[in-house]
Amino acid sequence: MTQRGKYLVTGGAGYIGGVVARRLVEAGHDVVVLDDLSTGFRDGVPAGAVFAEGDIRDTARWLDPSFDGVLHFAAFSQVAESVADPGKYWENNVGGTIALLAAMRAARVRTLVFSSSAATYGEPVRTPVTESDPTAPTNPYGATKLAVDHMIGGEARAHGLAAVCLRYFNVAGAYGGHGERHEPESHLIPLVLDVALGRRESIAVHGDDYPTPDGTCVRDYIHVADLAEAHVLALAAARPGEQLICNLGNGNGFSVREVVATVRKVTGHPVPETLAPRRPGDPAVLVASAAVARERLGWTPSRTGLAEIVADAWEFARARALV
Ligand SMILES: NC(=O)c1ccc[n+]([C@@H]2O[C@H](COP(=O)([O-])OP(=O)(O)OC[C@H]3O[C@@H](n4cnc5c(N)ncnc54)[C@H](O)[C@@H]3O)[C@@H](O)[C@H]2O)c1
Repeated sequence: MTQRGKYLVTGGAGYIGGVVARRLVEAGHDVVVLDDLSTGFRDGVPAGAVFAEGDIRDTARWLDPSFDGVLHFAAFSQVAESVADPGKYWENNVGGTIALLAAMRAARVRTLVFSSSAATYGEPVRTPVTESDPTAPTNPYGATKLAVDHMIGGEARAHGLAAVCLRYFNVAGAYGGHGERHEPESHLIPLVLDVALGRRESIAVHGDDYPTPDGTCVRDYIHVADLAEAHVLALAAARPGEQLICNLGNGNGFSVREVVATVRKVTGHPVPETLAPRRPGDPAVLVASAAVARERLGWTPSRTGLAEIVADAWEFARARALV
């Protein structure tokens, strides 16, 4: 995409939205970040972007026909919290998106890229997972993401929205000073790095008797900078009246023990581990087929090695620890 555009990035004070907003600014676009800072950070908004502090339910206040599109990251995304308080998730993720879609219709902004999730699939029926596989989320978080995918499909068919729903697998790494700082943190790489930083005594390995090479769960880790590139490509690939759904993963699975071993190597810390019971609903293997993203977006992830992903996350975590 060479033309200069103007984009609204909801959730751009968060981890992934911040990286994508930064990439858009670097590519010469005008960026407005709409974020209520519920889980994001004011300093997560990249330099060069305009910050609109507010709720996506009030998108109509910020959006006008001068925008070329919306990239929609704003959501709650803690699986355990969604099980304990599902209403909070339906209200924000689905209710917020209903308001966003209405504001886009009113302002005649007709291009949308949405952060969907591998959680829409639930227990995969095969590996790697393709977009035509059954969707059966096993928690309210995944159900809200699937509901929004359906809403966006209807909006595209009824009102000509050009929409791309990107189903991320395990996003990791850091870019340009933006990294993971979820509270509480539930993602494996930052948790293991917390052990290396001395913030946790050990890392719990939940089950080592899965049918995988080393018995621990295998996940597909995608570098956040590669993920950001897919969003830039998605803006160019979006077609009026079409909803394109693409998995984003690197197609390579890494086990929990491979992640721990890589953190040991990158940080030089022994990282003690403890064996904990399996967690209900944890599939043995969750790996994406990204063939559709390759074909339709022309996307090829380039930072696919676990050592590079962990090294970038480590640099970010260490810099944060010094603050
Ligand atoms: N991190 C992953 O591995 C992963 C995987 C699959 C999907 N996703 C999705 O990607 C998106 C971004 O995830 P993240 O890890 O960057 O999360 P994050 O919590 O760091 O970012 C979410 C941002 O949205 C903002 N927000 C939430 N509700 C809002 C509202 N009503 N109005 C305005 N702003 C609001 C938060 O303040 C935060 O800055 C989410 O939609 C998430 O579901 C993430």
